[in-house]
Amino acid sequence: MSEHLYHKYVQHMTLEEKIAQLLQLAAPFYDEPGDDSEITGPLEELGIGSDTVRNAGSVLGVAGAEKVMAVQKKHLENSRLGIPLLFMADIVHGFKTIFPIPLAIGSSWNPELAEQSAAIAAREAAVSGLHVTFAPMLDLVRDPRWGRVMESTGEDPYLNSVFAKAFVEGFQGKNLTQDMSRVAACVKHFAAYGAAEGGRDYNTVDLSERQLREYYLPAYKAALDAGAEMVMTSFNVVDGIPATGNRKLLRGILRAEWGFDGVVISDWASIKEMVAHGAAEDDKEAALKAIWAGVDIDMMTVSYLNHLPELVEVGLVDEALIDEAVLRILQLKEKLGLFENPMRGADPALEKEIVFSAEHRRAARKLAEKSSVLLKNEGVLPLNIEQRVALIGPFADSGDILGWWSWTGSKEQVAKLSGAMRSLAGNAGLVTVAEGSGIHTITAVQKEAALKAAAAADVIVLAVGEASEMSGEGGSRTNIKLPDAQLELIRLMKGLGKPLAVVLFNGRPLDLHGVYDQADAVLEAWFPGSEGGAALADLLYGKVNPSGRLSVSFPDSVGQVPVYYNAFSTGRPKPQVEDGNRYISKYIDAPNEPLLPFGFGLSYTSFTYEGLTLSSGILKDDQPVEVKVKVINTGSLAGTETVQLYLRDRSGEVVRPVKELKAFKQVDLAPGESAEMIFAIEERQLRYHHSDLTVSSDPGWFDVYVGGNSRDVLAAEFRLI
Ligand code: NOJ
Repeated sequence: MSEHLYHKYVQHMTLEEKIAQLLQLAAPFYDEPGDDSEITGPLEELGIGSDTVRNAGSVLGVAGAEKVMAVQKKHLENSRLGIPLLFMADIVHGFKTIFPIPLAIGSSWNPELAEQSAAIAAREAAVSGLHVTFAPMLDLVRDPRWGRVMESTGEDPYLNSVFAKAFVEGFQGKNLTQDMSRVAACVKHFAAYGAAEGGRDYNTVDLSERQLREYYLPAYKAALDAGAEMVMTSFNVVDGIPATGNRKLLRGILRAEWGFDGVVISDWASIKEMVAHGAAEDDKEAALKAIWAGVDIDMMTVSYLNHLPELVEVGLVDEALIDEAVLRILQLKEKLGLFENPMRGADPALEKEIVFSAEHRRAARKLAEKSSVLLKNEGVLPLNIEQRVALIGPFADSGDILGWWSWTGSKEQVAKLSGAMRSLAGNAGLVTVAEGSGIHTITAVQKEAALKAAAAADVIVLAVGEASEMSGEGGSRTNIKLPDAQLELIRLMKGLGKPLAVVLFNGRPLDLHGVYDQADAVLEAWFPGSEGGAALADLLYGKVNPSGRLSVSFPDSVGQVPVYYNAFSTGRPKPQVEDGNRYISKYIDAPNEPLLPFGFGLSYTSFTYEGLTLSSGILKDDQPVEVKVKVINTGSLAGTETVQLYLRDRSGEVVRPVKELKAFKQVDLAPGESAEMIFAIEERQLRYHHSDLTVSSDPGWFDVYVGGNSRDVLAAEFRLI
């Protein structure tokens, strides 16, 4: 711990001043008195503009250079010791330039572009006065009912870890103290929030410690190894104890085992929520448990503020614990250079120049191109610029394509699909646009207009999906199909017998019954961000060849959930060819397999794999096995392929998944061109958590699978000795 900060500040602070550092208050507190629009929780207890507000250590959700500077200035005028405020906010997939949602970024399988998106988000946020972003969200997700799957990069611990590192490096850069265009990253939600039972937000998580460590923890760990400065606790319980009061998780795994000495913040009100969980009798006990567990900042409750003084006085909390928390917060302020320069990167003039700049929007467009996934294509796409196109559906002319967590973005400034397609078509008049239906409703007038638009068209493009508030926080669903009104619109259009392409806007894997079976082509756009329409028009007209690959499985139906590629086999696996045996692990009314597997995505060209070879059939401790495969572009267009390498440990002390992603590489190939792809398999990649939680590999046979998705692969084998 920084002794100089202790001597300079902490030893001179009163207990009240220290505890105020641990308080984080949201934007309404910093508005002019008189705004009583949101009088709840601490707002009600403290009141806008109270003394406590002036002493608080950090602020949530105030952005904009002028505003931040004004709040900071006022704060410092009132701060006895001159300790600046930290400004934090959720800059999850862009600040004003909104990038595709993280689940889409996951589908790009492109960590360089992910890093660039985070760097741009940081640059815009920093110039607007922010110091910390509540990102990246690194919860592994297996349940598409959970609305927050859109915030994750998907279902795989390895892929998530690759993105974790990329995001942290993008947000923070190499030198947070010197580089004013970066912000500190706060990894969330620690831990395992993605495993909420039934996909219902905030719900119970119950995992074995092995599952937790093997699948859920690696991405957080990768982010911390990359230097992330902060960690946010999750709302859920972990083994019966709310994460926010979980000593084993926070003081044990996070701090003692992993050596993390940065700031831990609660999630919004999650200290107080321990009472509702049934883990604390009252708010005072909740505060006690949180500080014992190692939570430094209380986000938006006054549990610490109201109760820590008494808890210290009666000796239940050692003041040294509070000192430690304060020191960690001061250390972060120092690292961000705030003591010397409390305004840090905030710069109203530069803000006007770089926020939402053409350069930033180009990067957002590129990532939207790379993260859209072509799920089906039977000869309809790409469109020809001479074709008469009917663009129909609630997303045809909608700005609601930013997705959840884009509070700083503007739907009005979005590049919409309609405009972008019109400007690409040989003649703008070739594209006729109709709404067709709302998100949840369809009227006779809408149907008529859709039929009229479609009547003169050679091809119909339907832009359908979920409104952005149907995913994100609090956006859990049990029915993950498109709303009935839109399914009806699809049926209506299908009835016309014309070529039908569907573009999907959504924040989760959907049950595509009524879509996939009806359409000739399906392009998964997710929520593609500010430049989404422009990117999609390029993809639809073939100016850009789709290259995204799913980072999460699309279930056949919600009844299969959770369905993910890296599952265990049962003792009664389903045979390739069914033999009529009832007593095998299967459904009698649905396939076992998802509709679309992890890693899946099509292109306007085609790729063939051949000649999978290993340098040796034996892997010895320090001699990697080299894997080679030839990938050929067998189509007539240039394209990008994502070559994926999976392993299976055939038998372990504990059972191992049927496939696990271990490496991937992207390659650009011209028509007819081929490339030899080379991977190395090392012993360390074969290690896993054993029943006693130690990590090691087991000698024995391993399968190697290489292919363009997790299902369609070539196979080889080797033995670890
Ligand atoms: C609650 C969310 O769970 C978390 O992700 C977010 O960072 C905080 N609210 C602050 O907005």
